[in-house]
Amino acid sequence: MPNPKNIVILISGSGSNMAAIAQAAQQQDWKNQFGASIAAVISNRPDAPGLRLAQALGIATQVLSHKDFDSREAFDAALMRLIDGYQPALVVLAGFMRILTPGFVGHYAGRLINIHPSLLPAFTGLNTHQRAIEAGCKQAGCTVHQVTAELDHGPILAQAAVPVLPDDTAETLAARVLVQEHLLYPLAVRGWLQTQA
Ligand code: GAR
Repeated sequence: MPNPKNIVILISGSGSNMAAIAQAAQQQDWKNQFGASIAAVISNRPDAPGLRLAQALGIATQVLSHKDFDSREAFDAALMRLIDGYQPALVVLAGFMRILTPGFVGHYAGRLINIHPSLLPAFTGLNTHQRAIEAGCKQAGCTVHQVTAELDHGPILAQAAVPVLPDDTAETLAARVLVQEHLLYPLAVRGWLQTQA
């Protein structure tokens, strides 16, 4: 295991989960507690608002646009090179909206985690909140899981549930779930670090 424990976070969008983890790391002093620090935030989208958020938190940022590559394999290979430059103990997917190749997933086996906005194994894939409402679910939520080759499968590390209210839209439900994501993901990363101590 690399020492110190570098964490690399991958984002594609607003980066609110990334910020929640970074703030927990600062407030709880993960550096002294676990020897852990957020080494970099990498986005596949140059315009991801989360990049500015990371910079404001004093974290190094990188952009690797998938549009600059001819194939999924070529992008993932370049992404691996970029990530590995930080010698990560843990790679955290935080709203990273890319399907990963088996080669990528295998390379980070046991040190790659994701948050998904549903109570897995229900509602893998996209539009989770709309699908939960249409299915008549009374509970929705979010799941932190280890990433394996099959999309949104892999051992579950933590979950949080919220009620689905009668007048919910996908947007109101997503906002309620996101509040829980911001609590759950830092806890799950902290839990992972504790198991590595
Ligand atoms: C979060 O709700 C996360 O669960 C979801 O994207 C959002 C990212 O928000 N991830 C997925 O749908 C992955 N399949 P953020 O950029 O503000 O953290």
